[in-house]
Amino acid sequence: MAASAPAPGSRTGAPVALVTGSSSGIGQTIAQELATEGYRVVVNSARSVKEGEKTAAELPDALYVRADVSDEEESRRLVDTAVTHYGRLDVLVNNAGRTRAIPHADLTSATPGVWREILGLNVIGTWQTTVAAMPHLAASGSGCVINVSSIAGSRPAGSSIPYAVSKAAIEHMTRLLANTVGPHVRVNAVAPGLIETPWTRNSEFFAPIAEHVRTTTPLRRTGRPEDVAAAVTGLIHATYATGQVLLVDGGAHLL
Ligand SMILES: NC(=O)c1ccc[n+]([C@@H]2O[C@H](COP(=O)([O-])OP(=O)(O)OC[C@H]3O[C@@H](n4cnc5c(N)ncnc54)[C@H](OP(=O)(O)O)[C@@H]3O)[C@@H](O)[C@H]2O)c1
Repeated sequence: MAASAPAPGSRTGAPVALVTGSSSGIGQTIAQELATEGYRVVVNSARSVKEGEKTAAELPDALYVRADVSDEEESRRLVDTAVTHYGRLDVLVNNAGRTRAIPHADLTSATPGVWREILGLNVIGTWQTTVAAMPHLAASGSGCVINVSSIAGSRPAGSSIPYAVSKAAIEHMTRLLANTVGPHVRVNAVAPGLIETPWTRNSEFFAPIAEHVRTTTPLRRTGRPEDVAAAVTGLIHATYATGQVLLVDGGAHLL
């Protein structure tokens, strides 16, 4: 854990980034990359507390906060804890997400309960964390939100229809918010293709897709979390860009 807390509202020291779902996979690598860029980082997960604490302990100045961002009160507590601890918030990366592998033609398995579960985290979780963070991001003067979508948000693909729809919603939320919260806050998104993470590795569902990606896409490989983290930092540095969704898919969308 990090150094002692500054006085609330003092906004001193290095900028602060909060990355939801950062105990593993893409979020963890984004947290590590932002730390390399000099950010103080708030690491988060809902269940994997040990992994989250370890991720934070290995960074120069980071704080781990367990919170389920699909729960409104917990997402607000996450943001409040970050701001109380560090005194400021400059970047929010809405990365936490979930899916279910359901063939698109299997309509009955995509039950209303599955829809609620997936939209509850991917869409409502992203929304309520952003709303809680917005006053602090605006106070930063150069606040920035990066949402993690998916190629499934714009292509007829993805592990299930509810998942793909949730990512399409995130992309339109990105544009609508960007059009609303300027000039002090920018809102952009990254949309990864197939990335090797605990989510996709050793998965029966993803194995044939990975083979297809390796043999047919322009860049002839699956993605790494580092590829997505580079796109996130790129958008943070792209200070005249807002409302953008950057596909990070090795060119899979061109097929
Ligand atoms: N991997 C891919 O190929 C791929 C492609 C396109 C988009 N994406 C997107 O990238 C994001 C990360 O995926 P990943 O592959 O890195 O997955 P991952 O390795 O399974 O990591 C997911 C992270 O989110 C956390 N999390 C899950 N539910 C949460 C909740 N309710 N509140 C807070 N944290 C929560 C997990 O920790 P706990 O479970 O312990 O809470 C974990 O830290 C997701 O939004 C996913 O849709 C992934």
